[in-house]
Amino acid sequence: MPDSGNPEAKASPNLPWTTRLLMSAVAFAVDVSCRPNMTFNRRLFNLVDLKCSASSQPKNGVKSSDIVIDSGRNLWVRLYTPTNVTETSTTSSLPVIVYFHGGGFVLLAANSKRFDDHCRRLAKEIPAVVISVNYRLAPENRYPSQYDDGIDVLKFIDSKISTVEDFPDCADLKRCFVAGDSAGGNLAHNVAVRANECSFSKLKLIGVIAIQPFFGGEERTQSEEDLNDITPLVSLKLTDWMWKAFLPEGSDRDHPAANTFGKNAIDISGVDIPATMVIVGGFDPLKVWQKRHYEGLKRHGKEAYLIVYPNVVHGFYFFPELHQGSLFIDNVRNFVQDQSAKS
Ligand SMILES: *[C@@H]1O[C@H](CO)[C@@H](O)[C@H](O)[C@H]1NC(C)=O
Repeated sequence: MPDSGNPEAKASPNLPWTTRLLMSAVAFAVDVSCRPNMTFNRRLFNLVDLKCSASSQPKNGVKSSDIVIDSGRNLWVRLYTPTNVTETSTTSSLPVIVYFHGGGFVLLAANSKRFDDHCRRLAKEIPAVVISVNYRLAPENRYPSQYDDGIDVLKFIDSKISTVEDFPDCADLKRCFVAGDSAGGNLAHNVAVRANECSFSKLKLIGVIAIQPFFGGEERTQSEEDLNDITPLVSLKLTDWMWKAFLPEGSDRDHPAANTFGKNAIDISGVDIPATMVIVGGFDPLKVWQKRHYEGLKRHGKEAYLIVYPNVVHGFYFFPELHQGSLFIDNVRNFVQDQSAKS
């Protein structure tokens, strides 16, 4: 075999067949819901996107409740509080993780079953108070609606959340992280950049956790070419559609929201960006964009950490049967602890 310089390029990820089947089914549902005329068939996709409600009774050691921020645009958050920690150690405080779910800016929600499980797990195992954001979706609401919603959630947390009955006293707003997977990782970064324009009185952002963040550009990278066929969830066909649905009409994928360090990028030299952790999977076609994002942060003198899981596909944390899930939790916990210790 000729040396392509990328030994894993032609290999395929080691996944249980059940996981493969599930991924293909979800990819199929997404594919048929993304219509050629750039509308999204929500009614159809909702059939596979199972939802669940908040639970005031602890479930797996975490209770949850929903807080409406602006009913006019259906902006709300789901708050996850680990009960075992908050009841036993009254003196210790918990970091706060503001979480943005993935889904190409187009699909899924804070109450999607898989995100509910994911956020509950983070709350329990980090441990942290997790605030999962239900932001507006494209194509009905394009850029910058999602970033606006993210900023408005941070403002709400800063000024009003302590008056919410369910919000625990142990939550330390001075140790606040923005996190997200895929499109949510893009949101975490861009919201952290925009947060520079706000002056918060209680909230302090001390970290960005970008899990397989959705970045892109006009160029076709090597990993997008090599991995296009084996990762249906992030095929070029789908990601092209998502960018087109999200970005302002008439703009291309070199828009600064997608290509953070490309030719149209905003200069972040003078922008205060909290320490950033970028998590990358070896079988993720987006990995070249993600590494470029990390390198761009470093080049501009920002504190950034790159974590690569070689045998991992896009969205691996959704499949609890994959053992990388626990490594992922350990890495996030270490990052949260390190940044908390410095703050
Ligand atoms: C897009 O296509 C769908 C299904 O073919 C149709 O129901 C809908 O009205 C179309 N919308 C627009 C804006 O063209």
